[in-house]
Amino acid sequence: MHSELMRVYDLTKSFGNREVLKKINMSINEGEIFALMGPSGVGKTTLFRILNLLEKPSEGKLFFRGIELTVCTMREKINARRSMSMLFQTPCVLNTTVFNNVAYGLVIRKVDKNAIREKVMNALSIVGLEGKEQQKARTLSGGEAQRMAFARAIVYDPDILLLDEPTSSLDPANVAMIEELIKRIRRELGTTIIIATHNIYQVKRIADRVGILLNGELIEVNSIGRIFEAPEDARTKAFINGEMIY
Ligand SMILES: Nc1ncnc2c1ncn2[C@@H]1O[C@H](COP(=O)(O)OP(=O)(O)O)[C@@H](O)[C@H]1O
Ligand SMILES: [Mg+2]
Repeated sequence: MHSELMRVYDLTKSFGNREVLKKINMSINEGEIFALMGPSGVGKTTLFRILNLLEKPSEGKLFFRGIELTVCTMREKINARRSMSMLFQTPCVLNTTVFNNVAYGLVIRKVDKNAIREKVMNALSIVGLEGKEQQKARTLSGGEAQRMAFARAIVYDPDILLLDEPTSSLDPANVAMIEELIKRIRRELGTTIIIATHNIYQVKRIADRVGILLNGELIEVNSIGRIFEAPEDARTKAFINGEMIY
């Protein structure tokens, strides 16, 4: 059986009196690639920010390895936070070298200098940026900057990686490279991955399961095979067919 890494229970999020997420229930299995699909503005980033503890839900519960994060101790919260890593749509680039950008999370965690060097070089080699460690990060191309952001996200070996539309601003060659990277990270490091994406073909290429978010509701969660062949909700079919047009 699958072991559960994260669970969201009846989660609601409102901004003012606007309910953006409505009673979301979902469970993320250890080692899976889970795709979160839904139109722009539906609340994907908001959900990611809640999962990553950057934002609090208005109602509902969040569990990480069975621990309820909304009521746990500060220590448990910090531990959970450190097991997660989030990659934003546009890579956030610090005005320093590629090495320092990737090392950042480890420096914060007060990791020893030699270990930092080893981990950074290893992460840079996984994303194909070896030899670029002394280059100013601001001079990287868009695709390279996103790969650097990946290196920064995986350098402390998180249990779960939250990828918020990581390829939406990239050209096809870089999209292919990032998709390979995502599959490789899961294969070699066993990392659980949740990816928000609009790209239905990308979902088919890399994900195990997909959840469809429409009008603030998670209308369906299903395996890749089922969601395309036999979706349970008529709105899923309409959404997928709509996305195929692009
Ligand atoms: N801090 C905030 N304050 C008020 N409204 C917000 C805030 N963050 C997001 N929203 C709104 O919540 C909705 C969902 O946004 P978002 O999670 O970014 O959607 P998505 O990532 O799916 O495009 C949008 O209408 C957005 O304007
Ligand atoms: Mg978003």
